[in-house]
Amino acid sequence: MDQPQKAREHWASGFGFVLAAAGSAIGLGNIWKFPYITGENGGGAFVLVYLLCIVVIGLPVMLCEITLGRHTQRSPVGAFKKLSPESSTVAHLIGAGMVMTALFLLVFGRYGWAALAALVGLTVFRYGWVVVGAMGVLAGFTILSFYSVVAGWTVGYVVKAALGQLAFADSSAAGDAFGQFIASPAWAVGCHLVFMALCVLIVYNGVQKGIERWSKILMPLLFLLLVVLIVRAVTLPGAGAGIRFFLSPDFSKLTGEGVLKALGHAFFSLSLGMGAMITYGSYVDKEENIFLASLTVTVLDTLVALMAGLAIFPAVFAMGFQPTQGPGLIFQVLPTVFHRMTWGPFWATLFFLLVVIAALTSGISLLEVVTAYFVDERNWSRKTATVVFGGVIFLLGGLCAVSVSDWQALPGLHRLLLTVFGNVEDSLFDLLDNVASNWLLPLGGMLISIFVGWIWGTRKAIVEIRHGSQNFADVHVISLMAGLKDDESHNSAVHVLTLASLWGIFIRFISPVAVLIAFLHAINWLDFKPRKAPSPPPPSEQQQEAR
Ligand code: PFF
Repeated sequence: MDQPQKAREHWASGFGFVLAAAGSAIGLGNIWKFPYITGENGGGAFVLVYLLCIVVIGLPVMLCEITLGRHTQRSPVGAFKKLSPESSTVAHLIGAGMVMTALFLLVFGRYGWAALAALVGLTVFRYGWVVVGAMGVLAGFTILSFYSVVAGWTVGYVVKAALGQLAFADSSAAGDAFGQFIASPAWAVGCHLVFMALCVLIVYNGVQKGIERWSKILMPLLFLLLVVLIVRAVTLPGAGAGIRFFLSPDFSKLTGEGVLKALGHAFFSLSLGMGAMITYGSYVDKEENIFLASLTVTVLDTLVALMAGLAIFPAVFAMGFQPTQGPGLIFQVLPTVFHRMTWGPFWATLFFLLVVIAALTSGISLLEVVTAYFVDERNWSRKTATVVFGGVIFLLGGLCAVSVSDWQALPGLHRLLLTVFGNVEDSLFDLLDNVASNWLLPLGGMLISIFVGWIWGTRKAIVEIRHGSQNFADVHVISLMAGLKDDESHNSAVHVLTLASLWGIFIRFISPVAVLIAFLHAINWLDFKPRKAPSPPPPSEQQQEAR
């Protein structure tokens, strides 16, 4: 039954919403993760595939989430409650499938996994599609717990850069210093606390006075800093090699593995699959053009990822480093790069400040998903929810921060997970990252597009999208491409390809299948690694004799 709703807070302007949503999307994913996975996966060709994933999967799913939010004016759990059918055969089938899987796992002696699958299966059976919303809240907790740890490191690096303490002669010295830094609980947990406190402070003040106001200040600042850094990087002698690596595609370096990484990352980078955009969409007015807003947020996120690459690779190459360093790229290679520049500490401070800002506007969206659930569904006050769950996430993140350098520092938890699941990741940090990025987000994204495409239905969704979108959805794609957008044929009764019909096809067929493939790969049920050619059989005795 619908609960009586308090007046819902809304964004003060459409522009404010776009900046806040872009703030959520633009984060560590763009500036920390995108450059290093591009570096590891061969550069330009990977970038092209990533762009394709953004257009084919990211944009359509983004529109689904914002539409769900605006239509229901609820956060994810409420949104699914409101739109779910009384009883859904699809949900029952999924639930039953998971219980069957649990039985298989039981037979193979994977007791921990079996219990988990049975629990999820029964929950899906009982609560249906609402579970997708609940998964989003869970993902918010999980992601923010490790996200705020990395964000904390960048806070620490701003301080260190400003104090001139990042003066390393080479990247191995920088690597050692980084290792010591994250192993020091005072630094790692302290910086994590500062970051979480900032998130709580902003979300505490609400949608308009907190999230929107700060996004309006921080996002332009982020663009400005990034432009300054790009100008510095591309004017360094030898920068050309970096630009070439980043922008000229060499398909021989691209692997199937790389394609799937690009797909998963498109998801993470656009903040999709966990209802962050449903939550932000629920504060949007009916007059806003959500079609255009989705497009703008997607373009801005992609632009910043490309700009981050242009700020980082030219500098890395110009200073004679390799781009294949992995997650340490910005913490181990960049300080050394900056150190070799004139005004090094200044550029380093600017860069890490940029990363903190990007992480902050994403961190608040993660905390908002959790907060909005307790405000909307549990009738908590915003202030209590923010402080309580900010605190809980701080504690969980604190465990992550400690476990990164030493799992054994948490012997009880380590042993418990080991007993239940057989083996565990290198740290609690890796475990949470894996659960959220490889399981919860892809699965959530796939279920959201199936829900909008097949359960709620594109027909109802498009009515919502049309509100405020000034015929945008009904523009004929072919006419648009031909520059004949306002041509007479616009009113044709003949069934032609419109942006709306294109979107419907994408979310009903293409996104779910692509995400399913990525998901199966992430959990190692599909292996895209090139297989080694079988070695020739040993020569038979006759052959040996013949020699
Ligand atoms: N999109 C953010 C980034 O690229 O860093 C991460 C993120 C934020 C993921 C919010 C999911 C989310 F709901």
